[in-house]
Amino acid sequence: MSWFISPRQLRDLGIVGMNERNVGMIARLNARRHYPLVDDKLLTKNLALEAGIAVPELYGVIETNHDARNLRELISGRDDFVIKPAHGSGGNGILVITGRMGERFRTASGLLEDVKDLEHHVSNILSGMYSLGGQPDKAMIEYRVRFDPLFAGVSFQGVPDIRTVVYRGYPVMAMVRLPTRGSDGKANLHQGAVGAGIDIATGVTGHGVWHNEIVDRHPDTGALIGGIAIPDWDRLLALAAGCHELTGLGYLGVDVVLDRDLGPLILELNARPGLAVQVANGAGLRDCIDRVEAAEPKDPMSPAERAALVQALMGPEPDRSANKTAGSA
Ligand SMILES: Nc1ncnc2c1ncn2[C@@H]1O[C@H](COP(=O)(O)OP(=O)(O)O)[C@@H](O)[C@H]1O
Ligand SMILES: [Mg+2]
Repeated sequence: MSWFISPRQLRDLGIVGMNERNVGMIARLNARRHYPLVDDKLLTKNLALEAGIAVPELYGVIETNHDARNLRELISGRDDFVIKPAHGSGGNGILVITGRMGERFRTASGLLEDVKDLEHHVSNILSGMYSLGGQPDKAMIEYRVRFDPLFAGVSFQGVPDIRTVVYRGYPVMAMVRLPTRGSDGKANLHQGAVGAGIDIATGVTGHGVWHNEIVDRHPDTGALIGGIAIPDWDRLLALAAGCHELTGLGYLGVDVVLDRDLGPLILELNARPGLAVQVANGAGLRDCIDRVEAAEPKDPMSPAERAALVQALMGPEPDRSANKTAGSA
């Protein structure tokens, strides 16, 4: 089935459009001075670490072509790691190395590269090839996250990430993005990953969207995408909600990965989250935002209380009227 709906149907569904996102959300809720914190993945990592939030371990940073020779040392003795541009987006310039064969390194999609290829890649990153606005950039070398076995059936050679959209500190909508053969170890939709909606109240996945098509099964593995219960969902939502205080941003996307050994790690924060989350959920942001604004108590709430409020508001019908305020969580 192909996914096409008219602007009018979008409005009727309560879908927030590009214009409303750009003007009504991003401009109104995100002060520009907060952007550098999330646009630079190194700064984001430090910010999270200072707040006691787990992130993939940083092995090293390469800032100049002169330092590029340090790459060999940084990766020596490591079988797997990730090289990424500090100012990248959309999965561009991210190289996921999953193992070694002799002197060569295997990428997520199965290619073999030697250390010269990796140095060349780093040099491209430094030149700004993948950075926002083409500015000179830094290359980060970090721990490669291993996906939680939960996702084994619905992920192809890469780590799914869970994107939560946080509106004024309330986690209003979420999706999980599942890597495919085409996405080369990355969970970005533009790289070919599948986006699947997540029921915000329960943390259970729904159907998926892949290249503008609605899909029930993962295109490579054939496994069903819906019905997967994300573990520790309440805590994950509270973690995402807390990124509001962390960054000062009123509209943000929080990307979390679940490491099979280390649990939830923050991968990145985004000050301009796209709207694909609405398509993946087959619903608009409007409904949840309106409910939150109508139910919001006067006193400030903790991130866990805000998450619990959203879950209560968006839970099954019978609970909605009975449970208008945050629980004790
Ligand atoms: N350390 C890592 N380990 C494993 N996969 C990673 C790692 N970092 C990124 N990825 C993969 O690449 C995707 C994009 O990474 P991200 O850091 O969010 O950059 P971008 O801003 O380009 O989206 C992630 O969703 C994930 O699938
Ligand atoms: Mg990302």
